[in-house]
Amino acid sequence: MARFYITTPIYYVKDAPHVGHAYTTVNADALARWHRLVGDEVLFLTGTDEHGLKVARAAEEQGLTPLEWTNGMAPRFQDAWAALDISNDDFIRTTEERHRKAVQAMLGKIHDNGFIYAAPYEGFYCVGCERYYAEDELLDGGLCPDHGKPVELMSEENYFFRLSAFQDRLIDWYEQQPEAVLPASKRNEALSFIKGGLHDISITRTSISWGIEVPWDPKHVFYVWYDALINYLTAIGYGSDDPAEQQRFADWWPAVHHLIGKEIIRFHCVWWPAMCMAAGLEPPAHIQVHGWLLLGGAKMSNSSVDRITPSDLIDEYGVDPIRYHLLRDTPLGTDGEFSAEGIVARYNSDLANNLGNLLSRVATVVGSKCDGIGPAPETTSRLAGVATEVLAEASAAWNAGQPQQALEATWRLVRETNAELETVEPWKADPGPQVDAVLGSALEVLRIVAILIVPAMPGTAREIWRRIGLEGLPEDQRLPDSARWGGYPAGRPVEKAPPLFPRRKVQA
Ligand code: MSP
Repeated sequence: MARFYITTPIYYVKDAPHVGHAYTTVNADALARWHRLVGDEVLFLTGTDEHGLKVARAAEEQGLTPLEWTNGMAPRFQDAWAALDISNDDFIRTTEERHRKAVQAMLGKIHDNGFIYAAPYEGFYCVGCERYYAEDELLDGGLCPDHGKPVELMSEENYFFRLSAFQDRLIDWYEQQPEAVLPASKRNEALSFIKGGLHDISITRTSISWGIEVPWDPKHVFYVWYDALINYLTAIGYGSDDPAEQQRFADWWPAVHHLIGKEIIRFHCVWWPAMCMAAGLEPPAHIQVHGWLLLGGAKMSNSSVDRITPSDLIDEYGVDPIRYHLLRDTPLGTDGEFSAEGIVARYNSDLANNLGNLLSRVATVVGSKCDGIGPAPETTSRLAGVATEVLAEASAAWNAGQPQQALEATWRLVRETNAELETVEPWKADPGPQVDAVLGSALEVLRIVAILIVPAMPGTAREIWRRIGLEGLPEDQRLPDSARWGGYPAGRPVEKAPPLFPRRKVQA
């Protein structure tokens, strides 16, 4: 059995989650669910990034202490993920004691290894990004290139990480592990940044106190990004004195799969592997970079004028249609424009007209021609071959971290089954073996599709499973065996029920 450890970035608790955060989380969830389906041991981690100036200021604006603020915000992320049917195994908050220990252990180790030194620092800081920018990185007028807002000149005595010492080792690592950072365009971007020359970076602050104390000099706290990256180690037991936790760490690291947005490539693809090297650890095995959901061409964010929350969308469209849209319409790796029209178009074409329609017509005709009892699938059905091909294609796509392709492949089976029904027209024929054969095969397709859509639409998968009279749960089936043609048992009641996905119009 393989292990699959998948992580999302931990989100800032400056504000409640928005759809951009949901995009990453739903994709990570689908990949986690896929790996459970094929029998892997899965650890799916998400959480909240609670230190730093941005959060401290958000709290101050509300007249709260930072901890009061983060204690109020973290549950909003947990609730949003529960509402989206996210199956994370752990939720980490960087204000937890386990994390403080891990951060101090890792950075203490890097310090002991001689890669951290003290020096004065002055630079341009963007609070939105929680990072310093070099002057030549700023837009005209001294604005942050990401936020377009003025940066602040800050100066302080602090500790530096000797990133420059890792340039050659990072280049070697990129060359030896050409698939560690994907897609290749993002790998090349990180690699050329490294080849351009690395400067040491400031990793502590004395100007704020909201952070994790530097163990060897408690006037300082670690800079939020250094604290945050280490969450990936905390959750698997790094820095714990408990031997069982130490074993857990040895079991899970470095075979991790970090899913991140493209704006945090440098942190994850340059700093983070270097930090691991400096602490005597292997760098992370996989970093998958995705693009942005855009609103009117700009990155969706907390400050988008039309801030859209996951719960707004769930209320309007339902959980699974939103999950499906996020997975199906913006392939991991490219940007995608977010719009109500896009959601509705996808909903109508794939869910209402295809999957929902297949389920409804099969249930109706089984009702009228087979007394509501599902017949056995036909062994020689053409659809059996399509199902085998689709399983292979969808599996390859899920394994490559491409939900969009996996779903596209899966829908081919749905479409071809609808086409088969339209050719045979069992609703016009007299009851008998030909009608039974085509309906049994369509039920078998629905059974296989219910399993294949577990990663994307777990609730819908269960509902289809139940309506076609199957016992147990689709997520408890194991692939590939459970998708072998012929698994649908004849003789089960098939339920005629209202459409799963009634057609929709775009709301104004
Ligand atoms: N706290 C840091 C990450 C630390 S990880 C050690 C951070 N937080 S964040 O709240 O700004 O979230 C950033 C992540 O949210 C992005 O990398 C991406 O995964 C997701 N997204 C935020 N907006 C997004 C879009 N508009 N589109 C797609 N993903 C988006 O950075």
